[in-house]
Amino acid sequence: MMDIEVARKKIEDLKNLINYHNHRYYQLDDPEISDAEYDLLLKELIELERSYPELQTEDSPTKRIGAAPLTKFTTSVHLTPMLSLANAFSEEEILEFQERLKRFLGASEKLSFVAEPKIDGVAVNLIYINGILTKGATRGDGSIGEDVTQNIRTLHTIPLAIKGEPDNPLPEQIEIRGEIYMESIAFRNLNERRLAANEAPFANPRNAAAGSLRQLDPAVTAKRPLKMFCYATGLVKGRVFYNHWNVLQSLRRWGFSVNPLIRQLDSIHGCINFYHELQERRHELPYEIDGMVIKVDDLSLQNRLGAVSRSPRWALACKFAATQATTVIENIVAQVGRTGALTPVAIMKPVQVGGVTVSRATLHNQDEIEKKDIRVGDTVLVQRAGDVIPEVVKVIETKRTGNEKPFRIPTKCPECGSEVVRLAGEATHRCIGIACPAQIRGHIIHFASRGGMDIEGLGEKMIAQLIEKKLVADPADLYYLSFESLLNLERMAEKSANNLLSAIDRSKNPPLEKFIYALGIRHVGEHMARILAQKYQQIERLMAASESELLTIRDVGPEVSNSIAQFFKNASNCRVIEKLKEAGIKPKASETVISSPSLLTGKTFVFTGVMESMTRNEAKKIVESHGGQASGTVTRNTDYVVAGAAAGSKLQKALDAGVPVLSEEEFLVMAGIK
Ligand code: IVH
Repeated sequence: MMDIEVARKKIEDLKNLINYHNHRYYQLDDPEISDAEYDLLLKELIELERSYPELQTEDSPTKRIGAAPLTKFTTSVHLTPMLSLANAFSEEEILEFQERLKRFLGASEKLSFVAEPKIDGVAVNLIYINGILTKGATRGDGSIGEDVTQNIRTLHTIPLAIKGEPDNPLPEQIEIRGEIYMESIAFRNLNERRLAANEAPFANPRNAAAGSLRQLDPAVTAKRPLKMFCYATGLVKGRVFYNHWNVLQSLRRWGFSVNPLIRQLDSIHGCINFYHELQERRHELPYEIDGMVIKVDDLSLQNRLGAVSRSPRWALACKFAATQATTVIENIVAQVGRTGALTPVAIMKPVQVGGVTVSRATLHNQDEIEKKDIRVGDTVLVQRAGDVIPEVVKVIETKRTGNEKPFRIPTKCPECGSEVVRLAGEATHRCIGIACPAQIRGHIIHFASRGGMDIEGLGEKMIAQLIEKKLVADPADLYYLSFESLLNLERMAEKSANNLLSAIDRSKNPPLEKFIYALGIRHVGEHMARILAQKYQQIERLMAASESELLTIRDVGPEVSNSIAQFFKNASNCRVIEKLKEAGIKPKASETVISSPSLLTGKTFVFTGVMESMTRNEAKKIVESHGGQASGTVTRNTDYVVAGAAAGSKLQKALDAGVPVLSEEEFLVMAGIK
């Protein structure tokens, strides 16, 4: 053990460093270190805090992780009610708002306003007592919400503890309000992942934010990219503010994220101009806004104005024009993405939606089309959710003429003509052709990568050039490159051309597992490739294996066996493999056969925290392939707990119960992998 003062200093330094990197990653979106380096810092802090529990503070970044799942949410009473806003939809209604204010306060009162984008997310209330985040709750009915404190703690835009400054002292108690939201790109990525995993997509970023916040397991919320903008306070005890603008500046200085577009304006006409400006710019913003909020800046005037029927008289929500419209679907085409997924896209009669002309909308996949019964010729309601890519909400059935034509995903890939497949357990139809032009870049990057053929010096930029100059159209073409053709590329001198050619040449005798991995068969990662190589020893034998035979291998489930069988059924894939063999590629049969029974056989493992070299699922598969079991909870029957970075309550439980704890490395050694 080190001297406590040395430990205190070390912990303080680590916290500052981690907070700095959190800020770069989550706020600036510009990380300076890799995820692995970050995990190491966090791990070091966790270990120090474990040795010196008295030094763990409320604002430690380790407090964001590791809370156990709940069985249900409890309720939380807001200290002051969370009001809603009166709406306006036009310039006239905004002017009427000013008239009402003048009638109430007297015409001579000089009015100044704060105008803010109206974020389309979920309102929450945070309570800080003596600077410590003690509660986070949803709005609920305005008086009582749901206690989502442990989920709120996982958001990196929310400070766990705030510090006062001489000119910005801390209130003893403060309620801070704002909107939790998901950025449009993050929303789209999340939906893509959900669709790929056969889960229903969220209808819009607001639903995605609400659904992510209301998770009983905070580990799920932690993985969702939620952010928060703060825009108001509720109860404030021990500090007096005079205007709303200064409230927002104080919040910002305490480390909250306050929307950068807010403006202090001294006339209602300034507000109206800003309203039009925001309406024009709304689709350039990385998040969704559905209007602008005007607030009277002076807090004593706010007090005098008070509220009517749960809406304050001093604020107004100026809503934007609807983001839905109706139009006609003229055609449906299938678009092939970089991963081979075929996405049906509706080509529509151009229509204005929320100020933008829209003529295409994603229909996600065949199941979604069938669920909504969308046909070519249909009149449909479209909306712009998640900003740029519009969506078809529903068919207007009363407009049907009987001439509408149902759509089917094509059976051949529109890009390369390969057979289109729908793999077991997936909602998407895919082209799995290794030579498909829509996917070639990704395929070759994967093919040449370290885990694959390991072609040194063949980076992404070079691959892009080779494709662009039409020197390669499938991975096998790499082995047919000539010295002369390479010299025509940018920044390619004789020496580098020679180096590349010899690196390509050196890759001709890969271990079989690397060759299998390099093919980029869906669901076949490095671990699975190793299992297949050990079982089949020759690529030809793997190619000849039937789906049912593959399924008998211990680690292979229906998704994997189906994916492998479909891959080798594809004629163009077989041609590329033939071409590789003709170029002299000779994979070596694998020698390391996992001995069974092993140290893992018959043992029960629990994994906790983040592993560096494998996912939880891969870890589980390793255990199972040795005849062991992986479980989610630490019980009397647990033999080992394997703790990765940021391990939480399970690790504690293991330590309390005296269950042996292994590091990731120790586990890999035990499994004979390291
Ligand atoms: S102020 C009494 N400011 O809009 C004032 N609300 O329709 C309470 N919202 O429940 C709200 N952005 O969820 C305020 N800049 C902003 C806002 C905002 C979004 C939401 C909030 C509120 C709803 C009212």
